[in-house]
Amino acid sequence: MKFLVTGGAGFIGSNFVNLMSREHPEDDYLVYDALTYCGNLFSIEAALGRKNVSFLRGDISDEAAVDALFGRERFDYVVNFAAETHVDRSIKDPKAFLRSNVEGTLTLLEAARKHGLKRFHQVSTDEVYGMLPLEDKDLAFTEESPLAPSSPYSASKAAADLYVLAYHRTYGLNVTISRCSNNYGPYQFPEKLIPLVLTRALKDERIPVYGNGKNVRDWLYVEDHCRAIDLIVRKGDDGEIYNVGGHGEKENIEVVKLILETLGKPLSLIAYVKDRPGHDLRYAINPTKVSSLGFAPTHRPEEGIKKTIEWYLSHRDWLRKVEDGSYLAYVKEQYGE
Ligand code: NAD
Ligand code: TYD
Repeated sequence: MKFLVTGGAGFIGSNFVNLMSREHPEDDYLVYDALTYCGNLFSIEAALGRKNVSFLRGDISDEAAVDALFGRERFDYVVNFAAETHVDRSIKDPKAFLRSNVEGTLTLLEAARKHGLKRFHQVSTDEVYGMLPLEDKDLAFTEESPLAPSSPYSASKAAADLYVLAYHRTYGLNVTISRCSNNYGPYQFPEKLIPLVLTRALKDERIPVYGNGKNVRDWLYVEDHCRAIDLIVRKGDDGEIYNVGGHGEKENIEVVKLILETLGKPLSLIAYVKDRPGHDLRYAINPTKVSSLGFAPTHRPEEGIKKTIEWYLSHRDWLRKVEDGSYLAYVKEQYGE
């Protein structure tokens, strides 16, 4: 089978390609990625050394390039990871999210409709459902929860999902969508909470915690997520949405303390800062539907976060390569000196 993996040089996409190209030597993987600030080829060095992986630099919203690619390659599966993904950046520059996340997805869908394929899989997020209250711990998002996105990021992901479902209904395109909770693990760009805390703590820099630190996220180890996607792509039902979660709910402040304690750093590094506008209180996933395909997360956050810390400690050269000038400028603008 021939896979197109868009955004395969980013965090989750690189883990997917590294893992699946090793476990499925019989399949071919073409990574198509614009290599924006958070995508880089160092993350897929291992995969690119294999015969069944190739790379092409390009933008998913470039109609001519995408059409030519689909005409040339005849893909069986498309797994679309490519997106602008950081909520804080979407608050500063919402338009970039419309282009990559909505126009980009639509461009891929058009090419898929024109050239045909077995399945188009859209990697989406639980953030399309908005937020849950903190008080009722039994509430969790199901696939039937209404769409109620809070940020320009989640609004763009919800819009893309609706286009995917419309292409299924109107043109009969074979599609699946996965909506997962917060991922963590190797190769995550250090603007997101876990690698941000880790890398700042290593440099004894203050750790910015938004609001009171009581917001809850459902943490999912990235390889677990990749295995869920592979299952959905191969075994999921046409036109269906699958929520993917890790049963790993934790308050942000618990995550921050766990990282500092593991690194042997003082809790006095924590600085409570101004809250994010529209900050969702809680996300939690009901994974019953994806479990019926045979999926079960294999990492608890306590153990997965420690494994992630070990990975970053033994891959400092990767970190040095991604923390370039534009990243440092962003950190300065977002958090001050
Ligand atoms: P990431 O920001 O690490 O990587 C995104 C990748 O997409 C990068 O390699 C980037 O270069 C590429 N890209 C961006 N715009 C592009 C464009 N126009 N054309 C081609 N390539 C482009 O993101 P991630 O965390 O790996 O997320 C991957 C997908 O998973 C996204 O669709 C995101 O919405 C979804 N998701 C992520 C999480 C999470 O916790 N990280 C949770 C739920 C859903
Ligand atoms: P993030 O990793 O940006 O993921 P998302 O917003 O998609 O859930 O943030 C995870 C949580 O951590 C979220 O509640 C916001 C919070 N957060 C901080 O408290 N400080 C920070 O510097 C960042 C980046 C996030």
